[in-house]
Formats: sequence, structure tokens, C-alpha cells
Amino acid sequence: MKWVYIEDIYQYAGQEVEIRGWVYNKRSSGKVRFLLIRDGTGIIQGTIFSENKDFPLFQLFDGLTQESSLIVRGLVRTDKRAPGGYELEIKELEVIQIAEDYPITPKEHSVAFLMEHRHLWLRSQKQHAVLQVRAETVRAIRDFFNDRSFRLMDTPILTPNACEGTTTLFETSYFDQKAYLSQSGQLYNEATAAAFGKVYCFGPTFRAEKSKTRRHLIEFWMVEPEVAFATLQDIIELGQDLIMFILERVLERRRADLEILERETAPLERISKPFPQVTYDQAVKLLQERGSPLAYGDDFGAPEETKLSEIFDQPVCVTHFPAKIKAFYMQPDKDRPDLALGVDFLASEGFGEIIGGGQRIHDLNLLEQRIKEFNLPAEAFKWYTDLRRYGTFPHSGFGLGLERTVAWLCKLAHIRETIPFPRLLYRIYP
Ligand code: 4AD
Ligand code: MG
Repeated sequence: MKWVYIEDIYQYAGQEVEIRGWVYNKRSSGKVRFLLIRDGTGIIQGTIFSENKDFPLFQLFDGLTQESSLIVRGLVRTDKRAPGGYELEIKELEVIQIAEDYPITPKEHSVAFLMEHRHLWLRSQKQHAVLQVRAETVRAIRDFFNDRSFRLMDTPILTPNACEGTTTLFETSYFDQKAYLSQSGQLYNEATAAAFGKVYCFGPTFRAEKSKTRRHLIEFWMVEPEVAFATLQDIIELGQDLIMFILERVLERRRADLEILERETAPLERISKPFPQVTYDQAVKLLQERGSPLAYGDDFGAPEETKLSEIFDQPVCVTHFPAKIKAFYMQPDKDRPDLALGVDFLASEGFGEIIGGGQRIHDLNLLEQRIKEFNLPAEAFKWYTDLRRYGTFPHSGFGLGLERTVAWLCKLAHIRETIPFPRLLYRIYP
């Protein structure tokens, strides 16, 4: 008999098939036993019918516990009343293991308990839906860049230098040297952009952030395009196109998962290009007018980002930040050198920054001066300044945080559910 997956079951109506999976739930009603089986791709209702209460299949059924693993064989039938529209009339049931008392029951559990059991929590319907959205987002991102002929360049995880400030570096030993876990692939992408024109990297990045917020992970995934000869405005366009592409893809392919998450889709469907664009100066004014205690020159925190996204009801691009609060590599504005040609994309509905990027310094002297001002070790950046020695070129890029994007798409209160095994401040288990 053919082993099939539940997500493909619609192709087998009227046929006998085999399904391999786990017990999701069960109930009895008179002469019928209902078994909800999940196989990772979906859930199907299996039915067993008999007039005889000692029917051997009933006895097997009665012994099944939540999450017991099994193989069932039977006839696929369309049934409007069944969840999903199909059910399986079970003819054979083979138990692989009767599961021990499963710790996660339909009752409420504390977050601490669920995090401790993350390896099992992943099987729950909502967690499954979130990670389906994540996988679809990853696929959309790869399609977006590959379709536009960006070259994938894998950047190193072990590096000798900092990219995004020295306070959040993870240090490790590299034989008799020191190394740091990558905070961003950007600096290496600037080198590969000179070799390939337009490139992207997509991998795990690490920040030893001592902040315990709903937006920070210690280990997160970032996709980073870098484009030779592109200006700030060029990559703002690119960022908008990327976000629209992801949105449309997820709305098209993962609507059922968004429904499981009770994610209202209208606010996502309303989003369109171009996104509103404001300078840091304008953003500060808007915030102060609405009573924010923010002083000019301060970086935005979560409350400011939330406020801004409420004002616009669309993702917002904030540009021209004070150079002092941004990274060392940011190109200054030519008329206002105290401002950096950087951009942050703030997601709608209060989700805050999902993209950070901008135009990079391409002048050798200015870059060397910044490396000094930021107290960065010149030797570790020698290769990076070489890019300004041998055919320097204006260039721009950005990084989009995968987990922040998924949290926004799914409208989750906390980022920890957007990655299978989150690394959080004080949590590295499981
Ligand atoms: O703004 P960030 O720090 O920018 C960079 O790393 C640049 N070097 C990227 C580039 O230009 N190539 O980080 C970019 C994005 C943020 O907008 C956010 O979405 C995400 O990465 N991010 C985090 N996500 C989860 N947890 C954290 N601790 C994050 N820090 C940044
Ligand atoms: Mg940022």
C-alpha cells in the first residue's frame, strides 16, 4: 500500500493508502472511534467503526496515548464534516510506540515550561504554523535574490573583526588567536560585491546582547544584499521590493497557517509601495509632537519605533541618522556630514526595525579616520580598507532580520517562537 503525506491526501480520494505519524487526539462516540493523526504535513481524522465493542481495532485504539507513533492504513474519503475535508476509514493500525505521558497537554502551560520543552512544543499546531511561515519566508527571500541574479556568497562565521560595534561581540579562541562570531556578513559582502557586482549572504549571526526584550535573539538569521555602485535610494527600493515579495508570497501560500495563528491579514494586505520615507529629523519632530521624551541625537528605542509605525500604518523608512549613533562604515551625507546615509525599515503594527542598512564609505582616508575614531584595531581591517585602495566604488546594502520579519508576519508577541531553537539571554537549552 502506498505511503502518502496528509498534505497530498486530496489526490487519493477513493483509494487505500498508508499514513505514518503520531496520535494528535482521539475520542469515541458510540460505535465510532475518531483518531486525529498528524504526520508533520497536516492532520487527518481517522475513523474506526464497529457494532462490536470488543473489535480488535477498538482495543488497539483504546491503548493509544497522545503522541504515540503509528502506521495506519485505510480508505480515503471526502467528508465535508471532517477537518480538512478528508477522512481515513482505518482498516489496519500498527503501533510503533505507546508514548509515555506527554508533558504538553491541551491545558495552558507557562512560557518557561514550554521553552524547557521546546523540542516537543514544536509539534503543537501554532508552533508548526509559525515555522511554516518561516520556511516560506526563507524560500521567498532566496527566490527574490536568485531571480534577480544576485550571487549567493557565504560569509564566514568566525571572524577577526567586529562589524556592528564591539559591545555585542561573542569572543572565542582560535588556536593561539582570538576570534569573534559574526555579527553580520556585510564587510565580507563588500569584497564579494567588487568581485560579482550584486551579492547576498544569508546565514546565522550572533550578538551578545545583554538586553532581554521581545525583539532580541542572541543567534538570529539575516539576509544581506550588497550592490556595487548602488546609492542609498537604490537599496531603499530594493528593500521595499523584497518586503512586498515576501508579503505576497506568504499571503498566497501560507494563508491556512496565518488562520491557525488567528493573524488578521487585512493590515498586511493594505501594504503597498512606496513606503513612507522620513528623515531622522522629521521622525524626531513627529515623536516629540506626540509627547515622546526623546531628545535630538538619541537612538530610537522600542517605544519610538512602535509610535512611528502607528503614525503611518505602513512600513516606514527612516533615513539620515546622526552619524554618532550609527556604525563606523556609514557614508556621511554630502551637505550634512554629521548625518549618515543609513536607513532603517520599521515594520507596521508596532513591530519595529526589520531592516538596517545604507550606503558605505568608499573614501579610503575617511574610512581610516572612522576606524580610528571608533577605536577599532587597524590591522584587523587592513583587508577591508584594501577595497578602497584598489578601484573603490560607491556601494550600498542592508540586512533583513528573518525572525523579526516572521514575528511581524505572524503578529507574535515575542520573537522566541520564530526559530526552532531560540538562543536567548540565559537560555541555551534545549
Ligand atoms: O541593523 P543591523 O545591526 O545591521 C547590520 O548588521 C548591517 N551590517 C546589515 C547590512 O547592512 N548588511 O541588523 C540588521 C537587522 C535588524 O534590522 C534586525 O531585523 C535584525 O538584523 N537584528 C536582530 N534580530 C534579532 N535579534 C537581534 N539581536 C537582532 N539584531 C539585529
Ligand atoms: Mg539596526
